[in-house]
Amino acid sequence: MGNFILQPQFYQLTLIRSYSMPFMVCFVLAMAFVIAQAQQMQSNISHGSSLTPTTNSSWLSRSGVYAFGFYKQGNGYAVGIFLAGIPQTTIVWTAKRDDPPLSSDVTLDFTSDGLSLTSTQGQSFMIEYTSGSSASMLDSGNFVIYNARQDMVWQSFKHPTDTLLPGQSLSPGDELFSAKSESDHSTGIFRLKMQADGNLVQYPVNTPDTAPYAYYSSGTYGRKNVTLNFGADGHLYLLNDTRSNIRNITDGGLPADQATIYLMRIDADGIFRLYSHDLNHNGSKSIVWESSNDKCDPKGVCGLNSYCVSTDLDAKCKCLPGFVFANLGNKTSSCRRIVADVCEYKNETFPYTMEELQSTIWEDSSYVDLPLSDKEACKRACLEDCNCEAAIFNGTSCRKQRLPLRYGRREVITPNLELIKVATSTTAPDTEKGSKRKGRTDILIIGLSLTAFGSILVAISVVTFCKHNAWSYGRVNSPILDSELNEDIALRPYTYEELEKITNNFTEEAVGEEEVNKRQFERMIKVGLWCIQDEPSLRPSMKKVLLMLEGTVDIPIPPNPISFLSTI
Ligand SMILES: *[C@@H]1O[C@H](CO)[C@@H](O)[C@H](O)[C@H]1NC(C)=O
Ligand SMILES: *[C@@H]1O[C@H](CO)[C@@H](O)[C@H](O)[C@H]1NC(C)=O
Ligand SMILES: *[C@@H]1O[C@H](CO)[C@@H](O)[C@H](O)[C@H]1NC(C)=O
Ligand SMILES: *[C@@H]1O[C@H](CO)[C@@H](O)[C@H](O)[C@H]1NC(C)=O
Repeated sequence: MGNFILQPQFYQLTLIRSYSMPFMVCFVLAMAFVIAQAQQMQSNISHGSSLTPTTNSSWLSRSGVYAFGFYKQGNGYAVGIFLAGIPQTTIVWTAKRDDPPLSSDVTLDFTSDGLSLTSTQGQSFMIEYTSGSSASMLDSGNFVIYNARQDMVWQSFKHPTDTLLPGQSLSPGDELFSAKSESDHSTGIFRLKMQADGNLVQYPVNTPDTAPYAYYSSGTYGRKNVTLNFGADGHLYLLNDTRSNIRNITDGGLPADQATIYLMRIDADGIFRLYSHDLNHNGSKSIVWESSNDKCDPKGVCGLNSYCVSTDLDAKCKCLPGFVFANLGNKTSSCRRIVADVCEYKNETFPYTMEELQSTIWEDSSYVDLPLSDKEACKRACLEDCNCEAAIFNGTSCRKQRLPLRYGRREVITPNLELIKVATSTTAPDTEKGSKRKGRTDILIIGLSLTAFGSILVAISVVTFCKHNAWSYGRVNSPILDSELNEDIALRPYTYEELEKITNNFTEEAVGEEEVNKRQFERMIKVGLWCIQDEPSLRPSMKKVLLMLEGTVDIPIPPNPISFLSTI
């Protein structure tokens, strides 16, 4: 091979020997080397190549640093890109991250239609692309698919999950979603979004892109087409429309040698960090930079009705007074009341009190803001209101809240005092234990009946509402419509008195009745939506449902049902 390449060059060399022979020899040798390198650099994966979880489980990049293929996930396998040859599992990308783990009998084939997965259950696609003709695991960590003309038709860099690698960027509108945990790479509860308005912001999942939900921001709001970029020297920075650097998130300037791998990831705890892996030392990992060193910063790190308290290096979740973890032993689960119902009046004396919780902040989801400067008046206002389950008092206002409370954390410097309505009878937990089984069955039966009842109510009201509405629309005062209507319906003579009576009464009632029906309909729909909430602590009690249906208490707008979007 050496001869074959070098021989023709000799002619050239003789021709230009007079110039600089040593330089040319060097140049030619270097070129030959680069060409040889380039050919091997792409691990060329062609049609018919396949992988299985147990034997021949991945395609390596040329340097052997990155691999595309199967890795262990839960009680099965997942397909993704990871750092190969280092002891700790470091996953940088996952295909179909929210799909259940794969069994060991699957085969991953590279076909002209994409990457297909065949198991005893049938065939599915991991990455689908028509006209894909070859694929390659690049040394950058990018897995790419080319068509026959060698155009890149798909690349993993354009579909990030929770990690960015040097050379990869986040375009306007793109988001990274944290993983559930260090070992479960399915979609977790935090996101990092490169917003179209130029701001790079962190939020919990399933929230609007608005300031009250943000817990990190680059502060570059109000610019167009801003991208997040990641340099080989560990430099994370934002470029604007004209590719000018508008913000340095990390300074960069770190050693960019082949033995050091940088990666940026939004971790399961909601903080995004820049890591380096030293391949000369078994890939040992260190944190170069992090978006916050306060683990309580990410909103939603603790469950509902629970607040985060920072200790030295860690974060702890605590329940509101009068609450316990719904999932005993799991300190990140939501908290529920020890005594369920706190809306009972007995001879004008309240069987509950307002407990005080100092120095915490929460999402403000108040439904009423009273201008009160007296703490006791605020407590009283909440006690007297069946809807009120907590109140935030700050010295000048009393904001009444419903449960659940979210995004709670200890904040030493806050004027806010959280007031929580708590039942004074504390015998419940003991009796609860004895009749736990029975209680659960009761709850199940009540729950099922309620759901059935709710569905029937909703169905009836939809039918009534639609019928009623159709009829009232039909009565629009249009002569044409009236005549059409009259053709449809058998003609019937009316006396003047009859007409006057009907129209008058109808106008009055209809407006009134329609309004009442509409409100009742809305009420039922809202109660129905509250009853089918995924989160048990959000569902109203039986008593509350009755009050809500009656119209005795206002019904807050139910939250959207939880929906996770697949990021692929
Ligand atoms: C990969 O291999 C196929 C078939 O051998 C060939 O046609 C294609 O050009 C190769 N691609 C690269 C990038 O080398
Ligand atoms: C990009 O940023 C540079 C430097 O701040 C500024 O001069 C330029 O006007 C910006 N471009 C746009 C399109 O905003
Ligand atoms: C970002 O850092 C680079 C040096 O790494 C510097 O040249 C540049 O001016 C900085 N940009 C901003 C917006 O601070
Ligand atoms: C604790 O609860 C959270 C939220 O409900 C859940 O995601 C997590 O898996 C639970 N952890 C354990 C160890 O059960």
